[in-house]
Amino acid sequence: MMRKPFIAANWKMNKLVEESVEYGETLVEKLKAEKVDLKKVDVAVCVPFIHMAALKVIFVLRNINVGAQNMHYEESGAYTGEISPAMLKDMGIECVIIGHSERRMYFGETDEACARKVSAAHASGIRPILCVGESLAQREAEAHFSTVKTQLTGCFAGVGREEAAKTVIAYEPVWAIGTGMVATPQSAQDAAKAIRDDLSATFGSHVGEAVRILYGGSVSSKNAVELIGEPDVDGFLIGGAALHVDELTRICQLTIEATL
Ligand code: PGA
Repeated sequence: MMRKPFIAANWKMNKLVEESVEYGETLVEKLKAEKVDLKKVDVAVCVPFIHMAALKVIFVLRNINVGAQNMHYEESGAYTGEISPAMLKDMGIECVIIGHSERRMYFGETDEACARKVSAAHASGIRPILCVGESLAQREAEAHFSTVKTQLTGCFAGVGREEAAKTVIAYEPVWAIGTGMVATPQSAQDAAKAIRDDLSATFGSHVGEAVRILYGGSVSSKNAVELIGEPDVDGFLIGGAALHVDELTRICQLTIEATL
């Protein structure tokens, strides 16, 4: 099956308003100048909430999606400081990162909360990008597959077949995030294949084959080609490198060329 590559930038907690506007405008220009065909790759820029409105305006009529990095699972109510799926939908936000390891680590996000968020995102018509991945200690104990399997089972609790197929999974080994220690193409492939097999077993092979699985963790234009060459790696979730328009543009270009 041909799965359309998906490239998501994760800005994390970076950039001020002026910088985000400059980034947005430069990205539009650069993708055009470099003739990056956005029909061949889905591109999403996942930003802090305060930058969304401006980027939606800059990307209007362009095929560049704006994504969130988190959201609450309730529609509204007494949840001080939170943002709801309805609010994101109202702004035209297309996707949301759920269960990033930094949220699991620093904000106590559990698989159970992720499952509620995945369902809530689908109910609002927002595509979840669900992050899974093992820590260094889990990898050293050879518990990486079982860790990811447990996360998948927990985060897909109550999620139907149709929703599962539309979910994007980002395999992000924690030891590779922001460290420069990128996974080898083979280990990214092995994890992506294990995830696909697991989804096929749970939801049927139709779902397993349809789901796009991204790799994340120190991705750059230097390692993207090798990684995207793997049959079960369908794109990237990119942190540090994607803070730079040139890098993001280059990775989009390389991905299209490699998947033609
Ligand atoms: P990195 O981050 O590309 O800077 O390693 C990836 C992520 O955390 O999503």
